[in-house]
Parts: sequence; structure tokens; C-alpha cells
Amino acid sequence: MTSIIKRSAQLLLVLSGLILSACSEPKTETTHNSQAAHNMSNTAGQNGRWYSAEQVSQGKKLFQQYCAECHGAFAQGNPNWRQPTENGRYLPPPLNGTGHAWHHPMAQLRDVITNGRGPDVPSDMPAWGEKVNAQEVDALIAWFQSRWPDEIYQAWSRPKH
Ligand code: HEC
Repeated sequence: MTSIIKRSAQLLLVLSGLILSACSEPKTETTHNSQAAHNMSNTAGQNGRWYSAEQVSQGKKLFQQYCAECHGAFAQGNPNWRQPTENGRYLPPPLNGTGHAWHHPMAQLRDVITNGRGPDVPSDMPAWGEKVNAQEVDALIAWFQSRWPDEIYQAWSRPKH
């Protein structure tokens, strides 16, 4: 009995530590990014988003199956994604709008998911082209973009020079 209580207390401690560390992440480049991590309301079909509700729910399943182990169940990434590791690689970045993903046009997002970073860049991002087809790649993008606040989404969809 006491050991159960002790174990739940330990679990609670670990959990609150995780929550604390998630909230004490350093501020991202743009001020509006800070709200992105907590914003869950930008679902399909709103405000001119390109994807459908079906794509989002398909992408959610695929993401949990293939991507969540590295990028996190909510696409929150690793808190230390900005610092290179000892071997000069990077930890999985957030895809929820608080990272760099919104700087990349659609073609580049599709490319990194399908082909990974390419042989010339040492990276731990695998190529998924053999596991998911083009339509599933789009569904994956739809799901993580559904987590982007409008400001981020608008910045992404503006034509790049
Ligand atoms: C084994 C861990 C791992 C898995 C699994 C994984 N990724 Fe990644 N991913 C990474 C790492 C590490 C990077 C950063 C690569 C770099 O910059 O060198 C990355 C980068 C990315 C990027 C570019 C983000 C940016 O800001 O430039 C996208 C998009 C992405 N991953 C999507 C996915 C999707 C979608 C899946 C599932 C189909 C997935 N990843 C599965 C590790 C992983």
C-alpha cells in the first residue's frame, strides 16, 4: 500500500517536472509563437486552410504511428531542438508552429518527409517515402498544420521571395 502511494507520488513529481520544463522553454524568435504550443483550435476548413477534416484525422493517426516517438504526440518536438548534439546533429524540432517548419514551403515539407534530409546532410530525420504515399504525406502535414495558430499559418501561406 505505502509503496503504491510512494510510486504515485514519484510519478506525480516526474509529471510535474515534465510540465514545468515544457513551459519554461526559451522564447521563440517571434512573440506570437509562444501561444502556438497551447493553441489547439485551428482545425480543418477554417480561415482558408487548404486541408479537409478527413486529412487532419488521417494525418493524426499516421503521425502517432510514425512520427510521435521523435516529434512528440502533440508535435511539440524536443525542448533542446535548437542546440546541435555532440555529433553535430539536431534533435527532433517541434512541428506545431513553434519551430522552423512554417518557414518551409509545401514542396520542401513534402520533400523532407518523403526523402529525409538527404545523404549530404547528416541527420536523424528518416525518409518516409517507402512507408507513406504522397496523399498520406499531405495528411501528415495537414495534421501538424492544424496545430498552427492563424498568424503562423498566414505567414507560411504568404508567397515567399
Ligand atoms: C527517428 C526520429 C524521427 C522520426 C521518427 C521522425 N522525425 Fe522528423 N525529424 C527528426 C529530426 C532529428 C529532424 C531535424 C533534422 C535536421 O534538422 O537535421 C526532423 C525534421 C523534420 C521536419 C523538418 C522540420 C523543420 O523545422 O525543418 C519535418 C517536417 C519532419 N521532421 C516531419 C516528420 C514526420 C511527418 C514524421 C513521421 C512520418 C517524422 N518527421 C518522423 C527526427 C524524426
